[in-house]
Amino acid sequence: MSGEMPLVEVLTAPVAYERPGQEYWAGKTVVVIDVLRATSTMVTALAEGYDWIYPCGDVETARRKAEEFAGSTLAGERGGLPPAGFSKGNSPREFLGTGTRRGGMVLTTTNGTRAMEAARGAELLLVASFLNLRATVNVLQRQKAPVVLVCSGTGEDFALEDALLASAILADWQPDHPLASLYRAYKGNLEEAFRSSRNGRRLVGLGLEEDILWCLQRDRYDWVVKRGEQGLLRGMPMADDPIS
Ligand code: MLT
Repeated sequence: MSGEMPLVEVLTAPVAYERPGQEYWAGKTVVVIDVLRATSTMVTALAEGYDWIYPCGDVETARRKAEEFAGSTLAGERGGLPPAGFSKGNSPREFLGTGTRRGGMVLTTTNGTRAMEAARGAELLLVASFLNLRATVNVLQRQKAPVVLVCSGTGEDFALEDALLASAILADWQPDHPLASLYRAYKGNLEEAFRSSRNGRRLVGLGLEEDILWCLQRDRYDWVVKRGEQGLLRGMPMADDPIS
């Protein structure tokens, strides 16, 4: 573990993460957060048997990429539901498996994959959710480079559940950081906070309330998820991660 804490910034909405040019991201470790539901879905799918995920900002590119990557699953959402022709949506529960390998997936979501595209110039890109919080913090504790926590948001807005995960990461990693107090204030009431968020209310309206409960689980997977070659997201158990 490095003695000195790296500088950490938190970007809370698209207006903050889409404004900087690519030079802003160079040399940085970026943690992308979209608790409801994109990053929770990515972590679940990789821990449950998918080999890789190619994140795409838009639906047309996702369709094209799924054809290029023969045999891949085309998944994602707009308005919370799968676009026409997609075989899966963006519910983490759709990706629960039997432990068998299941190939690759092309995924496009409204905000989560959009945030990843904005941060494409990052040196290291990590995918965080409550499901892999401990494993993510474990990697951050070994970082020397400046760190940016990117809260993907809902549409153009701030999303409470994303800010809560950013704060939970800080509460574990840099407990004196001023933002760590947000998580401490909500800690006993996370489910209510998720349900009352804009995204939470939308999921309840779509009958996808179970997704909220899934995404609330802390440390279900001791898995690190990061971007690798060709922009593919890959996961591995924390014990196998060379950085951990
Ligand atoms: C997103 O990327 O905006 C979200 O994951 C939306 C959703 O809940 O499917």
